[in-house]
Amino acid sequence: MRLDKYIVHNTNLTRSLAKKAISSGQVLVNLKQIKNTAFKLKVTDQVFYLGKQIATLHHRYLMLNKPSGYICSTQDEIHPSVLNLIDIEQRDRLHIVGRLDVDTTGLVLITDDGQWSHRITSPKKNCQKTYQVDLAEKIRSDTIEQFNKGLLLKNELKPTRPAQLVIQSKQQVLLSIQEGRYHQVKRMFAAVGNHVEALHRVSIGAITLDVQLGDGEWRYLTEDEIATMS
Ligand code: URA
Repeated sequence: MRLDKYIVHNTNLTRSLAKKAISSGQVLVNLKQIKNTAFKLKVTDQVFYLGKQIATLHHRYLMLNKPSGYICSTQDEIHPSVLNLIDIEQRDRLHIVGRLDVDTTGLVLITDDGQWSHRITSPKKNCQKTYQVDLAEKIRSDTIEQFNKGLLLKNELKPTRPAQLVIQSKQQVLLSIQEGRYHQVKRMFAAVGNHVEALHRVSIGAITLDVQLGDGEWRYLTEDEIATMS
């Protein structure tokens, strides 16, 4: 967003007063004086007017490549939270969108926008998550149909919703599901007599894990990525 527009949105100033405030040097972006009214702000920029930080209407959206050994909640006495991997201002305002098991790796979305994350986690929204799964046993060809039809998980009465399986090799598949039941992927393979050796989430909706991100690395989402869930 343009700096002058941002100030109009977040203060009582009119457009012309906002422009004056900027060109007269009363506005700082990340502690640097910016006199260009058309300056393009990034979502992470912090804007100060007359020495006070302007409360932002912007939200923050990140993707993280979760390593094994980290948890997707804020507290655990044994394992660190994935939030420890993100060293930014006001980290405590962020929350993790959905959960991965401690030994699952891959795409995790993090934000401070509750409505946005609700659109991803709400069961009514049918948001598709895709996992790469390494299996202990060779995949049986009838598993594709079983997953597509839906199957009963141990101790549950309602079958799983149709899930898509793409076989990559004898013991590696891509599985896309729309639900988020407890340990769902591991329990689906247990239900057909197999066992998950390694689980890695590659996408959530239209957002795919950036292959440039190493284990534990993160980046801000692009405007386009954010918009796919808006
Ligand atoms: N399904 C699982 O079993 N574990 C995860 O971490 C995610 C989906």
